[in-house]
Amino acid sequence: MRLHINIDHVATLRNQRDTSYPDLVEAARVCMAAGADGITVHLREDRRHIRDADVWALRERHEGLLNLEMAATAEMAAIAAEVKPDVVTLVPEKREERTTEGGLDVEKMREAVAKVAAVCQKAGIKLSLFIEPNLEQVRASKELGASQVEFHTGHYCEAPPAERKQLLADLEGAVELAESLGLEVAAGHGLNVENVGPVAAISGIRELNIGHSVICSAVMIGLGAAVQELRAVVESDRPTSVPAQPMHLIAESAASRGK
Ligand code: PXP
Repeated sequence: MRLHINIDHVATLRNQRDTSYPDLVEAARVCMAAGADGITVHLREDRRHIRDADVWALRERHEGLLNLEMAATAEMAAIAAEVKPDVVTLVPEKREERTTEGGLDVEKMREAVAKVAAVCQKAGIKLSLFIEPNLEQVRASKELGASQVEFHTGHYCEAPPAERKQLLADLEGAVELAESLGLEVAAGHGLNVENVGPVAAISGIRELNIGHSVICSAVMIGLGAAVQELRAVVESDRPTSVPAQPMHLIAESAASRGK
């Protein structure tokens, strides 16, 4: 199973204060060193997290696979043709959505997808289409020349346990059809350590793209270490002559908190 980590939300944190950190190329390096097989980023029309310069920096300095998620527009196709990521994944995009809400309707978007497919073919970029686990969408993806489909797992992840079995069965059916048509199969959206197991157990799925939950876990796993690092720096720079806080101030502060 190829595990591709989506680092969009490292950029979300950086953009919050428009700082130069956290550095996306360094984040990519950490992911790869920890066993990821590739890095995924979504360059949205509104550039809310990943920016054009990030895609270029990753292309130039990240030593590994780069999967660029993007909408099927002329603007994005031109960027992909220049940057030449290893993979382009076409996703639907709505400005007002918080995250990609559903799969691409390949049937409806035929013309736009075909234009990007032609650009990818010319530039030697693998094309993946992010679709619902739906048989019509799989067939249309094949017709349009995709090499891979990525099945949207968001509905499975959000469904109550009683409905998950059916959604997994639908996913398995779509994976089977895709494989029989010679398409590579990926999956992603909403996956985390608790729900990924049954998806990873489907042998036809060869790639997972996971982002938000990894960055959230990274915060919780790393927070203690970050506080320890800060504590050590603060203490090491503290003049040794500063006396400890007088006891009566500590008592007063505890009293003011109602203790
Ligand atoms: N795959 C695709 C095509 C996506 O658009 C996204 C979200 O950007 C993901 C996977 C990752 O989803 P999540 O952040 O929920 O793990």
